[in-house]
Amino acid sequence: MGFISGFSKFNRSQRIDFIVQNTALNGSEAHDFDDYDSPDGNQQRIYSEMIENYVGNFPVPMGVVTNMLINGETYIVPFVTEESSVIAAASKAAKFWAKRGGFKATVLGVIKKGQVHFTWNGKQQLIKELFPVIREKLFEATQALTEKMRQRGGGITAIHLIDKTQELPDYYQVDVSFETADAMGANFINSCLEKISFALQDISELNSDECRVEIIMAILSNYTPECFVRCWVECPVEKLEGWNKALSYKSFATKFKQSVDIANIDVSRAATHNKGIFNGIDAVLLATGNDWRATSASAHAYASRNGKYTGLTTLTLTEKSFIYELELPMALGTVGGITGIHPTVKNSLAILKYPDARKLMMIAAASGLASNFGAIASLITTGIQAGHMKMHLSNILNQLNINFLESDIVRNYFSDKAISYNAVEEFIQKMRKKNEFT
Ligand code: MEV
Repeated sequence: MGFISGFSKFNRSQRIDFIVQNTALNGSEAHDFDDYDSPDGNQQRIYSEMIENYVGNFPVPMGVVTNMLINGETYIVPFVTEESSVIAAASKAAKFWAKRGGFKATVLGVIKKGQVHFTWNGKQQLIKELFPVIREKLFEATQALTEKMRQRGGGITAIHLIDKTQELPDYYQVDVSFETADAMGANFINSCLEKISFALQDISELNSDECRVEIIMAILSNYTPECFVRCWVECPVEKLEGWNKALSYKSFATKFKQSVDIANIDVSRAATHNKGIFNGIDAVLLATGNDWRATSASAHAYASRNGKYTGLTTLTLTEKSFIYELELPMALGTVGGITGIHPTVKNSLAILKYPDARKLMMIAAASGLASNFGAIASLITTGIQAGHMKMHLSNILNQLNINFLESDIVRNYFSDKAISYNAVEEFIQKMRKKNEFT
């Protein structure tokens, strides 16, 4: 296939034709794209205008986790996920903790940051001395842009100069702190930063024949350690009885502690431990139209803040109590972005009873902690495969094109046996062979 230019100018069917002509996708498979179109023409137009080079919608299942008790209020939490056992694991943990006081959560800050990265070839001391005056000019330059956000209780809360010349010659940052009310605020932040970068180039004290500001870039930071949520569960140790009959509450607590300790000393385990947290968080962020890539990037950076990547949870286990907590940075929005134009996102926010951004941070964190707790509790008792494969059996049956009657027989047969793709396929073959002769 040669180089193509102007693909984005094609209409949708021209794009699909091009893909069929140049890839392994055949014409009849390409029709599948239409199957997921919205029957509402206006909504379909909205989807098609959301991104460049649009070819179709991509269905992913949405389910809910029930019994999520957070700060005394019970939520039904929408999860969008392709992974079979995620909702089952989080639901089991949510129910378990609902009977033990539920999840507690608190937002510790909502400050987001961005930087203008630039070089300046004058004297370090001079720019530092000039900066109080420069700061005022930069605030001034953004007044019109921040007006509406200030009315909503947000805006720019601080502007600092960071000297990075020890690390890169002539390199400085203007580090800007923002509050963005209930919006994630990426567009607002980036617009302000670009305005600040133009203003920096206009400041006469910094731009003369001897020295000049050269802007490298102006962009928000997805690392948001000051936009931060803490969520925890706690109970007397003996109240842990009941997750699994095979393990006493004492052994459960001890093994749970060991599993959290392992995630704090071993990077291989830490990544998987944190992935289990994001099984829940990402599912909520997808359902509510939030930027899960940003949140993941921030949390993984935070997990490495001490120079070593570790698990994001902490367990405090004493003779008497079990306190399990998750702390992580998270920048979310419940207005703006696609929240007002995506029908399922709108439904998700309605299911959550229209939370503000802070509440959504707590709901997402609790969903992450529930997912992680459910995973660890299974791992240290039954292992996860039993539950996971039970859920995954439907995918295997669908992949093997099984009919309705056969499905019941297979499900029945595997109700007390280990499930694998090969075992199921073999059983179906035998069953069909047997039926040919009877
Ligand atoms: C699977 O999606 C997530 C787990 O691997 C998480 C974990 O190991 O803690 C089960």
